[in-house]
Amino acid sequence: MEIQVIQADITTLKVNAIVNAANSSLLGGGGVDGAIHRKGGSEILEACKKIRAQQGKCNTGEAVITTAGKLPSEYVIHTVGPVWNAGGKNKEELLANCYKNSLDLAIEHNIKTIAFPNISTGIYKFPKQLAAEIAIKTVATYKHKDTIDELYFCCFDQENYEIYHKLMADENLNID
Ligand code: APR
Repeated sequence: MEIQVIQADITTLKVNAIVNAANSSLLGGGGVDGAIHRKGGSEILEACKKIRAQQGKCNTGEAVITTAGKLPSEYVIHTVGPVWNAGGKNKEELLANCYKNSLDLAIEHNIKTIAFPNISTGIYKFPKQLAAEIAIKTVATYKHKDTIDELYFCCFDQENYEIYHKLMADENLNID
């Protein structure tokens, strides 16, 4: 699996799947969630509502998959990150689960190229450095990483971009 750190608007990426930092309602919001629903169109929301009707809310750390509607990607994988100051001890594990469960869904759908935003580091206020360390470590140790061809950490702000770049260089991750 080739991992790249890029700075971009994730809604512009032509990959098989982009990952959305959603909330448990799956009915949209601000940040990257807002951008995906705004640009992807109502098809995405309709698909989310169907999932809601079937399974109820999406719990923190879990992921669901829908069409990407009008976006250049084929799928959107919606995952719900932990809120940093919401209490509870296992925030780091829940964030790691966002990446793991999203990758599991990607494998199930034979997705070969995938882009992640910096989950929980915006409105949910998860510290960026720690979130990046969790994201990179989780991906680097993911059991089926060799069935994904390309993984992009799609940073929107400069701070995240620099954090990821430095971490990837320091870790000189030898990920095949
Ligand atoms: N492309 C890529 N990344 C983006 C984009 C975009 N178009 N817009 C925002 N981001 C980045 C933010 O800069 C941040 O680094 O996504 C990261 C996650 O921030 P949020 O979108 O605020 O998500 P999060 O912190 O996980 O909070 C989720 O916010 O939007 C609501 O409905 C969502 O309630 C949920 C909460």
